[in-house]
Amino acid sequence: MNIIRVKDYDEMSQKACEMIISVVRSTEKPVLGLATGSTPEGLYKCLIEQYQSNKVSFDNVTTFNLDEYVGLEGNDPNSYRYFMDSNFFDHINIQKNNTHVPNGIAKDLEEEVLQYEELIKENGAIDMQVLGIGLNGHIGFNEPGTAFSSRTHVVELDESTRNANARFFSSIDEVPTQAITAGIETIMESKKIVLLVSGEAKAETVARLLNGEITENFPASILHKHPDVTIIADEAALSQI
Ligand code: GLP
Repeated sequence: MNIIRVKDYDEMSQKACEMIISVVRSTEKPVLGLATGSTPEGLYKCLIEQYQSNKVSFDNVTTFNLDEYVGLEGNDPNSYRYFMDSNFFDHINIQKNNTHVPNGIAKDLEEEVLQYEELIKENGAIDMQVLGIGLNGHIGFNEPGTAFSSRTHVVELDESTRNANARFFSSIDEVPTQAITAGIETIMESKKIVLLVSGEAKAETVARLLNGEITENFPASILHKHPDVTIIADEAALSQI
């Protein structure tokens, strides 16, 4: 794994922004894998600014998001579809029907997860997958214990994840108990992966990622086996290394 050490959140976002732009410029029909959460917000801001100053176009870009809560409509402010539209897609020239987020209100969730996999395959492969990391090492919503061989599937969210994400909801009771997530194997099939980490709260997680063993109990540890992973981490996130 290639580690880029940066000063702070802004520099992390800037570096990730440069990497994405370089993929978009050098690929004929770029396919990006995208993540939600507080971590990539600065990256999306930077990409919007670059688009506004005519440095990049998203006209021919296709995107696949990692995950979505089960039970939330796309216009629910806590859904990941809403997050992506309001933080990114509504501000750039991407064609909306080329943006994909799992459908958390699909009648048949098992059918939805299969279709999502199919759709990724139809588009070739993900050229660059952006990842954040949960405190317990989850990537997407693949919680500890998820098989490394998993494909897109429905998950029961860990209590720790629901607690960590409760800050976006008015109460913990409103945080969904299930989500759809791209599987570990699905993520590992991406050509390039860039993992963003910022802040002291993630320092222990980063230390375990870099120094710990590869185990399904810590999903992100699988990234050691991917041939092209870059971790962009700030000084606070690397403070326990
Ligand atoms: C969420 C998302 C993940 C994200 C992680 C970290 O639960 N499902 O995709 O990477 O938690 O979020 P944050 O960036 O807000 O710390």
